[in-house]
Formats: sequence, structure tokens, C-alpha cells
Amino acid sequence: MDTQNIRIEKMKFEHIEQIAAIEKACFGQNAWSGALFYSELLDGNKHYFVAVKNNSVIGYGGYAHILDEAHIMNIAVEGAYRKKGVSSSILTHLLQDARKRNIRAVTLEVREGNDAAISLYQKFGFKLEGVRKNYYEGKHNALIYWKIL
Ligand SMILES: CC(C)(COP(=O)(O)OP(=O)(O)OC[C@H]1O[C@@H](n2cnc3c(N)ncnc32)[C@H](O)[C@@H]1OP(=O)(O)O)[C@@H](O)C(=O)NCCC(=O)NCCS
Repeated sequence: MDTQNIRIEKMKFEHIEQIAAIEKACFGQNAWSGALFYSELLDGNKHYFVAVKNNSVIGYGGYAHILDEAHIMNIAVEGAYRKKGVSSSILTHLLQDARKRNIRAVTLEVREGNDAAISLYQKFGFKLEGVRKNYYEGKHNALIYWKIL
């Protein structure tokens, strides 16, 4: 899959159907529904972006603005477009957006063992600051990362 002509833009309601399909492929029964994305887009403190190629959504990510912090809610890329820098572009965009809003620090939770995501966050300078035991499905630890902007 070539990665030319990929744009990062604000998530819109019209993107939700495609996002829900990627979400389902990535997270199965733990996937967010389209309705949940819909309500997130109605929330003025949430900022979501999509990576679009030829009018198709190939990835997305977003954060909640809480006080002077950004809490990254999700980031995912369609299988065929992985390892091509798409999530790096989305994350770069999220961090720029957060800086513009004078956000001081960014945090996220990632499931222990999700090596692709952990490696992505470490590459961007996120530091492991805590662990929530058995957070996912009562059996997988959540690793808590922070990055100071
Ligand atoms: C994690 C995910 C978003 C990475 O997206 P991506 O577009 O493939 O990532 P990029 O191509 O921008 O890669 C950036 C860095 O991430 C890391 N990375 C990405 N895929 C990796 C893999 N399969 N194994 C190890 N490291 C990986 C590398 O550090 C990479 O840097 P490099 O190219 O210099 O080695 C993608 O694998 C995905 O959608 N996974 C399913 C959803 C998910 O788990 N999301 C995270 C929830 S917290």
C-alpha cells in the first residue's frame, strides 16, 4: 500500500462508519461503537483526527483535554497501512494540537504486551510512570505513560 496523499484532518461524523470498522478489526469485542464516537465528537473537550487517503479513513486518534493535560483515548491504523508512519503522523498532529491549547502533559494507557504501540509511544518520548494491575478484562495490566510537552 503506498502512503502518498495521506492527509490528517479533524474527525467528522461522516467518518464514523469507517472508523467503527477499523476499531472492530483492531479491538474485537472491546471495540468502541459508532455511537460512542458520535458522542465523543459532540464533546467540546475531545479532539479527534483521522488519516485519510483517497477519501478513505485509514487511521484515527484523539485525546481528551482535561485541565492542562491531554489524555490520549485511542490511536489505530488499518492493518494494510501499518508500519508506514501513519500513526506517527497522527500522533505528531495530536501533540501539535495539544501544544496549541497550552497543554502541559500528555498521558495514555496501553495494554502490557502491545509491543507495537509501546514502541511507538517510547519513540515519541513517553515514559512509563505507572501500572494498573489487571485493568483490561480483569487480567491484563495497563501501562501508564506520560510525556511532558
Ligand atoms: C500501534 C499502531 C497504532 C502503530 O501504527 P503504525 O502506523 O503501524 O506505526 P508507525 O508506522 O507510525 O510506526 C511508528 C513506530 O511504532 C513502532 N511500531 C509500529 N509497529 C510496530 C510493530 N509491529 N512492532 C514493533 N514496533 C512497532 C516502531 O517504533 C515504529 O517506529 P520505526 O518505524 O522507526 O520502527 C498500529 O499497530 C495499530 O493500529 N495497532 C492496533 C491498535 C492499537 O493497539 N492501538 C494502540 C492502542 S493503545
